[in-house]
Amino acid sequence: MTLAVASSVTNGLARLAEPWAHLYADSKTVATIVTFGHVASLLMAGGLAVATDRATLRALRLAAAERGRHLEELAGVHRLVVGGLSLSVITGVLLFASDVETFVGSWIFWLKMALICVLLANGFIMTRAEGALRADAGENAPSWTRLRRSALVSVGLWYAITLAGVALVNVA
Ligand code: HEM
Repeated sequence: MTLAVASSVTNGLARLAEPWAHLYADSKTVATIVTFGHVASLLMAGGLAVATDRATLRALRLAAAERGRHLEELAGVHRLVVGGLSLSVITGVLLFASDVETFVGSWIFWLKMALICVLLANGFIMTRAEGALRADAGENAPSWTRLRRSALVSVGLWYAITLAGVALVNVA
């Protein structure tokens, strides 16, 4: 994409978002509600994900026969995490639209979006490992290692994305 095209796309987006950007800038109530929604989505999705990742790492210290109950709990948590992530995308787009020019030009914003893509891919790898373990949960099943690795990566990513989010407010 040439620079000229990128800047005309940015201008088009900024024009489209202008009425929202004005409302967001003029109303502390609107800004508070949207930012609260964004941080609340992190509390819900990130909090659940990190707590479940810790439980996964603890469950892996048990004998394979005792890990079944954790696999069931893990399956139930994904829906809530995806729900929280969806809320972070909706509120994230509203935050982005509040100042398009600043965020389009921010490397921190694009780094954060890239980290979120890796988080989603890691979540997919985790659900695949769970699926394989439902078929074979033997002590030496290779998916136990994949599950452990994806839990560790998940914890790291949630903190890295949160750091990028806070940096966006203070550095972008
Ligand atoms: C895993 C998902 C996400 C997490 C954990 C996350 C976390 C955060 C945090 C902690 C902040 C700082 C809030 C504050 O102190 O005001 C923030 C700000 C921000 N986030 Fe996210 N975020 C996520 C997803 C997204 C997405 C998908 C977008 C865009 C589509 C986005 C766009 C933004 C923007 C633009 C800001 C800066 C707001 C400002 O300067 O006032 N975020 N994010």
